[in-house]
Amino acid sequence: MTGGMPMGARLTGGQPVGSRSQGPQPPAGGPGREPLISIRELKVHFDLGGGGVWDKLVGGSAVRRVVKAVDGVSIDIYPGETLGLVGESGCGKSTLGRALLRLTEPTGGQVLFRGRDLSQLSKGEMRGQRRHLQMIFQDPYASLNPRMTVAQIIGEPLDTFGLGGRGREREGRVQELMKTVGLSPRFLKRYPHEFSGGQRQRIGIARALAADPDFVVADEPISALDVSIQAQIMNLMERLQRERDLTYLFISHDLRAIRHVSDRVAVMYLGKLVELSDAKVIYRDPLMPYTKALISAVPVPDPAVEATRQRIVLQGDVPSPINPPSGCRFHTRCPWAIETCKEVVPPLAEIKPNHFAACIRISPEEPDIEKVAPGDAPGLRGTGRVIAQ
Ligand SMILES: Nc1ncnc2c1ncn2[C@@H]1O[C@H](COP(=O)(O)OP(=O)(O)OP(=O)(O)O)[C@@H](O)[C@H]1O
Ligand code: SF4
Ligand SMILES: [Mg+2]
Repeated sequence: MTGGMPMGARLTGGQPVGSRSQGPQPPAGGPGREPLISIRELKVHFDLGGGGVWDKLVGGSAVRRVVKAVDGVSIDIYPGETLGLVGESGCGKSTLGRALLRLTEPTGGQVLFRGRDLSQLSKGEMRGQRRHLQMIFQDPYASLNPRMTVAQIIGEPLDTFGLGGRGREREGRVQELMKTVGLSPRFLKRYPHEFSGGQRQRIGIARALAADPDFVVADEPISALDVSIQAQIMNLMERLQRERDLTYLFISHDLRAIRHVSDRVAVMYLGKLVELSDAKVIYRDPLMPYTKALISAVPVPDPAVEATRQRIVLQGDVPSPINPPSGCRFHTRCPWAIETCKEVVPPLAEIKPNHFAACIRISPEEPDIEKVAPGDAPGLRGTGRVIAQ
């Protein structure tokens, strides 16, 4: 929620798009800053079974079914920034967020926290790191144990990480955390059901803060709340970020909320990152057709602009992540798709400075898909840096 920093990985100029001669690329990094989190080629596949002899006998699936929820995502997240993650339901946002914290075990790839590969840590070592990496959940009621008091809920991480002391000292810390998130310490002995939705989310935030984290994955933290309460929670998160130097991955399908809170925005489609840029830029000048469609659905506050705004209506539903479309996964719904789009997987390439998009029909020289000649795929002549996908 402060000025976002760019990321990327460099390929030598003039490499054809899709070239993998250098393998997964190291981070180029933001100007003068080391990333807090580096995600490299992260994969989370869920094996749903099928394809066995028994399956065939009982008329089950003849092929093994694997959900490729996250399928080769690379991105850097910089200290103090809010990276917004958007995309339609089922595109893999929550799975990505959970995999960063190893709440879901990745199938492949790396997550580096301050340069340390979390996937190489033992369970015990990971428990130690988890203090720095916390999560705020969508449904504050479901994520809070209904049989625990607020004091116990917020105090639990203090005990787990040995941060809270005992007796009065511990109680004082819990009360301090309650005050920090705008809850009266008088409610210490109350249970979650005695609070409103917004207050419960404050409890969830206080619990995440108790461990004094550096990085917080907020997975749809306002989606279950009344509109009037949403702004309060976003403001609270912004204040806490400033006061505590927090870095957020803010996951939401609500593009207006994402615009409000994010420094940079990453767009996901069927397990892949398809666009990444500064938040203001992506809303003003989306490059990749899927992002264009998403952004075109966001109402504009100015009535004059709103009246003339052109909406891109996507045809069809999101395809199944079990058998995602070949080539560009968006080709089944893309108004600009050509035959080649079914064959080539577009990498996330830097089309404008620090503005990355995955589409073979645009390039740094021809960034506007509306102006590209029919049938042309300038991205295949690609130049510039590409993030390994
Ligand atoms: N434990 C699991 N086992 C099998 N499939 C799963 C599991 N968790 C998620 N999936 C599948 O992985 C895909 C991505 O799910 P995910 O929950 O990450 O999407 P999402 O973008 O967060 O969606 P939403 O906006 O609805 O929260 C979906 O097809 C989902 O059904
Ligand atoms: S690569 Fe092809 S299908 Fe994919 S977004 Fe670009 S034009 Fe559309
Ligand atoms: Mg989700």
